[in-house]
Amino acid sequence: MALNTINPTETVSWNKLQLHYKELQKASMHEMFQSDTLRTEKFSLKWNDFLLDYSKNIINQETITLLLELANEVGLKNAIKDYFEGAIINQTENRAVLHTALRAKESAIIYVDGKNVVPEIYDVKNKIKAFTNEVTSGKRTGFTGKTFTDVVNIGIGGSDLGPAMAVEALQFYKNHLNVHFVSNVDGDHVNEIIKKLNPETTLFVIVSKTFTTQETLTNSETIRKWFLRSAKQEDVAKHFVAVSTNIAKVTEFGINPDNIFPMWDWVGGRFSLWSAVGLTISLAVGFENFDELLSGANEMDEHFKTVDFDQNVPVILALLSVWYNNFFGAESEALIPYTQYLQKLAPYLQQGTMESNGKSVGRDGKPVNYQTGTIIWGEPGTNSQHAFFQLIHQGTKLIPTDFIGYVKPLYGDKDHHDKLMSNFFAQTEALMQGKSKEQVQSEFDKQGLSADKAKFLLPYKVFTGNKPTNTILIQKLTPKTLGSLIALYEHKIFVQGIIWNIFSFDQWGVELGKQLANSILEEINTKEVKNHDSSTAFLLNHFLKNK
Ligand code: F6P
Repeated sequence: MALNTINPTETVSWNKLQLHYKELQKASMHEMFQSDTLRTEKFSLKWNDFLLDYSKNIINQETITLLLELANEVGLKNAIKDYFEGAIINQTENRAVLHTALRAKESAIIYVDGKNVVPEIYDVKNKIKAFTNEVTSGKRTGFTGKTFTDVVNIGIGGSDLGPAMAVEALQFYKNHLNVHFVSNVDGDHVNEIIKKLNPETTLFVIVSKTFTTQETLTNSETIRKWFLRSAKQEDVAKHFVAVSTNIAKVTEFGINPDNIFPMWDWVGGRFSLWSAVGLTISLAVGFENFDELLSGANEMDEHFKTVDFDQNVPVILALLSVWYNNFFGAESEALIPYTQYLQKLAPYLQQGTMESNGKSVGRDGKPVNYQTGTIIWGEPGTNSQHAFFQLIHQGTKLIPTDFIGYVKPLYGDKDHHDKLMSNFFAQTEALMQGKSKEQVQSEFDKQGLSADKAKFLLPYKVFTGNKPTNTILIQKLTPKTLGSLIALYEHKIFVQGIIWNIFSFDQWGVELGKQLANSILEEINTKEVKNHDSSTAFLLNHFLKNK
């Protein structure tokens, strides 16, 4: 069944939210906290090892009621059902969207074109398991009989960001294999990686859903040529494996059919780390940990699918984001994990969020008349505090921010962790409370500052506060909680796409640049600059003349 098409701005709840925004836009969170001692109890949720405190938002009970009404009015419940049951919700590509099936239990039954796909998914999972065990145990060796020491993931976009983010996040659980990622078509990237490698002991995992991506094919070719300087053609079979839906193209590239890990067109690239695209994750942390990642995601899926919207973590986060994006006019959201392990979470979710919801045509084929996809950015705390927090605290823009932190550190270093977490709590408190003129003045008085100096400095030292944050406090960073966290954000993206009445699972916007790059490459090769705007022609001529 196709998703319904409802312009959200034409719903009753949207209009009520607009009026409600007028009442609340100047509301002070500080005052709301003071007048309601139960505020945090009302606006927080506990789920498994997760605690979500969303009380530091510019909301009251009516805001949540109206946002929930909006979710109901746009038909979110049915949309979730369609999503999980494999309906063709990626209508512009005529595909189901079933990354959730990849982490389903073996007993689940999920149909695509009348066929239960769960057995195939488990066949591939078993293949990943067997391959991982052979490599990590040393049973599988390279062309000179040496065991593998290094793994190189060659892919880009969803075929790189997910595995790279998860391998970084799960570094604590890693085995002896050194893992590298080559993504950019920039030759300097691949050459920097190659120089660290020994062809005898390196395994290459080529990941490309389509197996037509210029960057991945170019890097794979370059690496194969480099490999063949030390090895023979038949050795390629021992060192190169591929993950793809395009079996014919992979075979044409020369990969042994036994070394192909299939995936399916109903898995979107940016949601594919749960499929064989996660092979590098499995190699890095072992299959059991990879499976735990999947089971954490599956638990979040169950929560999202079954729990009432007012208790539903992804739904609440999505609605809050709509509140700021569409009523307060906030353009971006920051994501600040208080763990260095999650340093690649923001770039990963940039693709997830912005490739999915960066759309301006509605599901009715008409241009939308409201804002859609938010801009996502962020860096781990506390580093980010010393980089861009000034703007969040005292700049002119409203930047709703998610703070993600862990109760327990992985190495058990209490001193460091307590310092880290005191910053974590302090920031959300400071962003909400701010610092009043009176507080600043009383500090000046204590310091004995002259009246003139105090008058001059006072406006700069006042913080208005009232900056919204969500706090996601998780017990510990494990493969399982990581899986749940990623799935949480995936579902947030889904809910927003439904509300904004857009197709979240295609990405036509990246095609135009790809097409133009191909024709410009032709011109660079032939040194013949064709019809371009004067700026592009000028730049191309300069490049050709000076290269
Ligand atoms: O950037 C566009 C895109 O199609 C992404 O959606 C995808 O993750 C990436 O390119 C890589 O594609 P492939 O896995 O087919 O090489």
